[in-house]
Amino acid sequence: MSMEGEGATMGQGFDGGAASAPGTARAPVVGPEGPTWERESVIRVRGVTKVYRQGELEVRALRGVDLDLAPGEFTAMAGPSGSGKTTLLNVIGALDRPTEGWAEVSGHRVSTLDAGDAADFRLDHVGFIFQAYNLVPVLTAYENAEFTLLLRGVDADRRRAVVEPLLERVGLGAMMDRRPPELSGGQQQRVAVVRALATHPDVVLADEPTANLDSATSGELLDLMLELNREMGITFLFSTHDETVIERARRVIRLRDGRVDRVEIREGA
Ligand SMILES: Nc1ncnc2c1ncn2[C@@H]1O[C@H](COP(=O)(O)OP(=O)(O)OP(=O)(O)O)[C@@H](O)[C@H]1O
Ligand SMILES: [Mg+2]
Repeated sequence: MSMEGEGATMGQGFDGGAASAPGTARAPVVGPEGPTWERESVIRVRGVTKVYRQGELEVRALRGVDLDLAPGEFTAMAGPSGSGKTTLLNVIGALDRPTEGWAEVSGHRVSTLDAGDAADFRLDHVGFIFQAYNLVPVLTAYENAEFTLLLRGVDADRRRAVVEPLLERVGLGAMMDRRPPELSGGQQQRVAVVRALATHPDVVLADEPTANLDSATSGELLDLMLELNREMGITFLFSTHDETVIERARRVIRLRDGRVDRVEIREGA
Protein backbone atom coordinates (compact mmCIF):
# COMPACT_ATOMS: atom_id res chain seq x y z
CA MET A 1 0.00 0.00 0.00
CA SER A 2 1.39 3.38 -0.79
CA MET A 3 0.36 6.81 0.30
CA GLU A 4 1.26 9.73 -1.85
CA GLY A 5 2.22 13.04 -0.33
CA GLU A 6 1.88 16.31 -2.12
CA GLY A 7 4.67 18.82 -2.16
CA ALA A 8 8.26 18.61 -1.22
CA THR A 9 8.32 18.78 2.55
CA MET A 10 8.64 15.44 4.27
CA GLY A 11 9.17 14.12 7.70
CA GLN A 12 6.02 15.38 9.39
CA GLY A 13 4.15 12.63 11.10
CA PHE A 14 6.91 10.14 10.50
CA ASP A 15 7.62 7.77 13.32
CA GLY A 16 11.29 8.58 13.47
CA GLY A 17 12.25 5.34 15.17
CA ALA A 18 15.44 5.68 17.14
CA ALA A 19 16.22 9.23 18.14
CA SER A 20 19.79 10.42 17.66
CA ALA A 21 22.19 7.70 18.65
CA PRO A 22 23.81 8.12 22.06
CA GLY A 23 27.05 10.00 22.00
CA THR A 24 26.20 11.99 18.91
CA ALA A 25 25.20 15.19 20.70
CA ARG A 26 27.03 18.13 19.19
CA ALA A 27 27.18 21.84 19.72
CA PRO A 28 24.19 23.46 18.07
CA VAL A 29 24.65 25.41 14.90
CA VAL A 30 22.70 28.62 15.33
CA GLY A 31 21.39 30.10 12.12
CA PRO A 32 18.63 32.52 11.26
CA GLU A 33 16.11 29.76 12.00
CA GLY A 34 17.37 29.22 15.54
CA PRO A 35 19.38 26.38 17.06
CA THR A 36 19.22 23.29 14.91
CA TRP A 37 19.39 20.79 17.78
CA GLU A 38 15.73 21.52 18.42
CA ARG A 39 14.88 19.83 15.16
CA GLU A 40 14.48 16.14 14.62
CA SER A 41 15.58 15.64 11.04
CA VAL A 42 19.01 14.24 10.33
CA ILE A 43 18.89 15.71 6.80
CA ARG A 44 17.26 19.07 6.14
CA VAL A 45 17.26 20.80 2.78
CA ARG A 46 15.59 24.13 2.16
CA GLY A 47 15.12 26.01 -1.08
CA VAL A 48 18.11 24.42 -2.76
CA THR A 49 18.81 25.43 -6.32
CA LYS A 50 21.84 24.56 -8.39
CA VAL A 51 22.77 26.30 -11.59
CA TYR A 52 25.73 25.02 -13.57
CA ARG A 53 27.25 27.58 -15.90
CA GLN A 54 29.16 26.49 -18.95
CA GLY A 55 30.12 29.61 -20.82
CA GLU A 56 26.90 31.17 -22.09
CA LEU A 57 24.89 28.10 -21.17
CA GLU A 58 23.04 27.73 -17.86
CA VAL A 59 21.84 24.34 -16.64
CA ARG A 60 19.35 24.49 -13.79
CA ALA A 61 19.98 21.12 -12.16
CA LEU A 62 17.93 21.84 -9.01
CA ARG A 63 15.05 24.32 -8.95
CA GLY A 64 14.05 24.61 -5.30
CA VAL A 65 14.20 21.43 -3.23
CA ASP A 66 12.96 21.04 0.34
CA LEU A 67 13.56 17.79 2.17
CA ASP A 68 13.43 16.39 5.72
CA LEU A 69 14.64 12.92 6.58
CA ALA A 70 14.27 11.57 10.09
CA PRO A 71 17.02 9.47 11.69
CA GLY A 72 16.89 5.84 10.64
CA GLU A 73 15.01 6.36 7.38
CA PHE A 74 15.70 4.19 4.33
CA THR A 75 14.80 6.38 1.38
CA ALA A 76 15.09 5.97 -2.37
CA MET A 77 15.38 8.89 -4.74
CA ALA A 78 14.08 8.15 -8.20
CA GLY A 79 13.56 10.21 -11.32
CA PRO A 80 14.51 10.44 -14.96
CA SER A 81 18.10 10.91 -16.05
CA GLY A 82 19.04 14.55 -15.52
CA SER A 83 16.36 15.18 -12.88
CA GLY A 84 18.97 16.19 -10.30
CA LYS A 85 19.48 13.08 -8.14
CA THR A 86 23.27 13.13 -8.16
CA THR A 87 23.37 16.89 -7.76
CA LEU A 88 21.15 16.72 -4.68
CA LEU A 89 23.17 13.88 -3.11
CA ASN A 90 26.34 15.89 -3.74
CA VAL A 91 24.88 18.96 -2.05
CA ILE A 92 23.78 16.94 1.00
CA GLY A 93 27.17 15.20 1.16
CA ALA A 94 29.12 18.48 0.96
CA LEU A 95 30.68 17.45 -2.35
CA ASP A 96 29.06 20.41 -4.10
CA ARG A 97 27.56 23.72 -3.00
CA PRO A 98 24.05 24.89 -3.83
CA THR A 99 23.54 28.12 -5.77
CA GLU A 100 20.76 29.13 -3.37
CA GLY A 101 19.28 27.60 -0.24
CA TRP A 102 20.93 25.37 2.32
CA ALA A 103 21.38 21.80 3.49
CA GLU A 104 22.08 20.46 6.97
CA VAL A 105 23.17 17.05 8.19
CA SER A 106 22.79 16.43 11.92
CA GLY A 107 22.49 20.15 12.49
CA HIS A 108 25.67 20.96 10.56
CA ARG A 109 25.15 23.49 7.83
CA VAL A 110 27.02 21.77 5.01
CA SER A 111 26.19 24.14 2.19
CA THR A 112 28.61 26.85 3.30
CA LEU A 113 31.65 24.79 4.32
CA ASP A 114 34.97 25.54 2.66
CA ALA A 115 36.81 22.65 1.02
CA GLY A 116 38.85 21.66 4.09
CA ASP A 117 35.91 21.77 6.49
CA ALA A 118 33.79 19.89 3.97
CA ALA A 119 36.36 17.08 3.88
CA ASP A 120 36.39 16.88 7.69
CA PHE A 121 32.61 16.96 7.77
CA ARG A 122 32.35 14.09 5.29
CA LEU A 123 34.80 11.96 7.21
CA ASP A 124 32.92 12.47 10.48
CA HIS A 125 29.31 12.30 9.36
CA VAL A 126 28.75 10.75 5.92
CA GLY A 127 29.35 7.35 4.37
CA PHE A 128 29.41 7.24 0.57
CA ILE A 129 28.61 4.33 -1.71
CA PHE A 130 29.18 4.81 -5.44
CA GLN A 131 27.88 3.11 -8.54
CA ALA A 132 31.38 2.01 -9.57
CA TYR A 133 32.29 0.80 -6.01
CA ASN A 134 35.40 3.06 -6.02
CA LEU A 135 37.63 0.57 -4.22
CA VAL A 136 41.40 0.93 -4.39
CA PRO A 137 42.48 -1.96 -6.66
CA VAL A 138 45.85 -2.61 -5.01
CA LEU A 139 44.41 -2.84 -1.50
CA THR A 140 42.72 -5.96 -0.06
CA ALA A 141 39.04 -6.05 0.83
CA TYR A 142 40.03 -5.57 4.45
CA GLU A 143 42.31 -2.62 3.70
CA ASN A 144 39.64 -0.97 1.56
CA ALA A 145 37.03 -1.49 4.26
CA GLU A 146 39.18 0.09 6.98
CA PHE A 147 40.21 3.04 4.82
CA THR A 148 37.87 5.66 6.30
CA LEU A 149 38.87 4.65 9.84
CA LEU A 150 42.53 4.94 8.85
CA LEU A 151 41.89 8.47 7.56
CA ARG A 152 40.32 9.31 10.90
CA GLY A 153 43.45 8.17 12.74
CA VAL A 154 41.84 5.17 14.46
CA ASP A 155 44.51 2.72 15.64
CA ALA A 156 44.96 -0.70 14.04
CA ASP A 157 43.39 -2.75 16.85
CA ARG A 158 40.27 -0.64 16.95
CA ARG A 159 40.01 -0.69 13.17
CA ARG A 160 40.15 -4.47 13.22
CA ALA A 161 37.55 -4.68 15.99
CA VAL A 162 35.10 -2.73 13.83
CA VAL A 163 35.91 -3.94 10.33
CA GLU A 164 36.27 -7.71 10.79
CA PRO A 165 32.80 -8.26 12.29
CA LEU A 166 31.27 -6.03 9.62
CA LEU A 167 32.99 -7.93 6.79
CA GLU A 168 31.77 -11.16 8.33
CA ARG A 169 28.30 -9.68 8.69
CA VAL A 170 28.14 -8.99 4.95
CA GLY A 171 29.37 -12.50 4.11
CA LEU A 172 32.97 -11.64 3.22
CA GLY A 173 34.71 -13.17 6.22
CA ALA A 174 36.64 -15.59 4.03
CA MET A 175 37.57 -12.98 1.40
CA MET A 176 39.20 -10.24 3.43
CA ASP A 177 42.59 -10.73 1.81
CA ARG A 178 41.31 -10.63 -1.76
CA ARG A 179 41.82 -7.59 -3.92
CA PRO A 180 38.90 -6.01 -5.83
CA PRO A 181 39.73 -7.68 -9.18
CA GLU A 182 39.35 -11.05 -7.38
CA LEU A 183 35.83 -10.18 -6.18
CA SER A 184 32.50 -10.08 -8.01
CA GLY A 185 30.67 -6.78 -8.43
CA GLY A 186 28.26 -7.63 -5.63
CA GLN A 187 31.15 -8.57 -3.34
CA GLN A 188 33.01 -5.35 -4.17
CA GLN A 189 29.92 -3.31 -3.39
CA ARG A 190 29.59 -5.10 -0.05
CA VAL A 191 33.15 -4.05 0.77
CA ALA A 192 32.12 -0.49 -0.13
CA VAL A 193 29.10 -0.81 2.19
CA VAL A 194 31.41 -1.84 5.06
CA ARG A 195 33.75 1.07 4.26
CA ALA A 196 30.78 3.44 4.37
CA LEU A 197 29.44 2.06 7.67
CA ALA A 198 32.73 1.55 9.53
CA THR A 199 32.80 5.09 10.92
CA HIS A 200 29.17 4.77 12.02
CA PRO A 201 28.16 7.84 10.02
CA ASP A 202 24.97 9.81 10.58
CA VAL A 203 23.91 9.17 7.00
CA VAL A 204 24.90 6.90 4.13
CA LEU A 205 24.49 8.50 0.71
CA ALA A 206 24.53 6.11 -2.23
CA ASP A 207 24.36 7.20 -5.86
CA GLU A 208 22.90 4.32 -7.88
CA PRO A 209 24.61 1.67 -5.75
CA THR A 210 23.13 -1.23 -7.74
CA ALA A 211 23.38 0.17 -11.26
CA ASN A 212 26.29 -2.13 -12.17
CA LEU A 213 24.75 -5.26 -10.65
CA ASP A 214 22.36 -7.83 -12.10
CA SER A 215 18.87 -7.80 -10.65
CA ALA A 216 19.32 -10.76 -8.27
CA THR A 217 22.53 -9.26 -6.85
CA SER A 218 20.88 -5.82 -6.66
CA GLY A 219 18.08 -7.29 -4.58
CA GLU A 220 20.53 -9.01 -2.24
CA LEU A 221 22.56 -5.85 -1.78
CA LEU A 222 19.44 -3.80 -1.04
CA ASP A 223 18.23 -6.36 1.48
CA LEU A 224 21.62 -6.22 3.16
CA MET A 225 21.58 -2.42 3.26
CA LEU A 226 18.07 -2.54 4.72
CA GLU A 227 19.13 -5.00 7.43
CA LEU A 228 22.14 -2.86 8.34
CA ASN A 229 19.92 0.23 8.36
CA ARG A 230 17.68 -1.49 10.91
CA GLU A 231 20.49 -2.99 12.97
CA MET A 232 22.64 0.14 13.14
CA GLY A 233 19.95 2.82 12.90
CA ILE A 234 21.90 4.63 10.19
CA THR A 235 19.92 6.79 7.76
CA PHE A 236 20.23 5.73 4.12
CA LEU A 237 19.45 7.93 1.13
CA PHE A 238 20.14 6.42 -2.27
CA SER A 239 19.34 7.21 -5.87
CA THR A 240 18.23 4.55 -8.31
CA HIS A 241 16.49 3.88 -11.60
CA ASP A 242 15.63 0.32 -10.63
CA GLU A 243 11.96 -0.28 -9.68
CA THR A 244 12.83 -3.51 -7.86
CA VAL A 245 15.15 -1.44 -5.67
CA ILE A 246 12.55 1.28 -5.23
CA GLU A 247 10.06 -1.34 -4.00
CA ARG A 248 12.24 -2.07 -1.00
CA ALA A 249 12.40 1.52 0.23
CA ARG A 250 10.12 2.82 2.93
CA ARG A 251 10.01 6.26 1.36
CA VAL A 252 10.46 7.21 -2.27
CA ILE A 253 11.23 10.72 -3.42
CA ARG A 254 10.46 11.25 -7.09
CA LEU A 255 12.45 14.06 -8.66
CA ARG A 256 11.51 15.69 -11.93
CA ASP A 257 13.23 18.64 -13.60
CA GLY A 258 15.15 19.55 -10.47
CA ARG A 259 12.14 19.51 -8.14
CA VAL A 260 10.51 17.02 -5.80
CA ASP A 261 7.57 15.85 -7.87
CA ARG A 262 6.07 13.35 -5.45
CA VAL A 263 6.79 11.52 -2.21
CA GLU A 264 5.54 8.01 -1.61
CA ILE A 265 5.51 6.36 1.79
CA ARG A 266 5.20 2.59 1.80
CA GLU A 267 3.61 1.00 4.81
CA GLY A 268 5.40 -2.14 5.91
CA ALA A 269 8.23 -1.86 3.35
N1 LIG B 1 29.20 19.58 -13.47
C1 LIG B 1 28.16 19.86 -14.26
N2 LIG B 1 28.23 20.83 -15.18
C2 LIG B 1 27.17 21.15 -15.96
N3 LIG B 1 25.99 20.53 -15.88
C3 LIG B 1 25.86 19.54 -14.99
C4 LIG B 1 26.92 19.15 -14.13
N4 LIG B 1 26.50 18.14 -13.33
C5 LIG B 1 25.22 17.91 -13.70
N5 LIG B 1 24.83 18.75 -14.67
C6 LIG B 1 23.49 18.81 -15.29
O1 LIG B 1 22.54 18.95 -14.24
C7 LIG B 1 21.37 18.18 -14.51
C8 LIG B 1 21.14 17.20 -13.38
O2 LIG B 1 22.16 16.25 -13.40
P1 LIG B 1 22.29 15.05 -12.36
O3 LIG B 1 23.57 14.38 -12.62
O4 LIG B 1 22.07 15.55 -10.98
O5 LIG B 1 21.04 14.14 -12.78
P2 LIG B 1 20.68 12.66 -12.32
O6 LIG B 1 19.25 12.69 -11.90
O7 LIG B 1 21.66 12.16 -11.34
O8 LIG B 1 20.79 11.85 -13.69
P3 LIG B 1 21.23 10.30 -13.94
O9 LIG B 1 20.02 9.49 -13.58
O10 LIG B 1 21.52 10.26 -15.40
O11 LIG B 1 22.41 10.00 -13.08
C9 LIG B 1 21.60 17.53 -15.87
O12 LIG B 1 21.01 18.34 -16.85
C10 LIG B 1 23.11 17.54 -16.01
O13 LIG B 1 23.49 17.58 -17.35
MG1 LIG C 1 23.05 10.63 -11.35
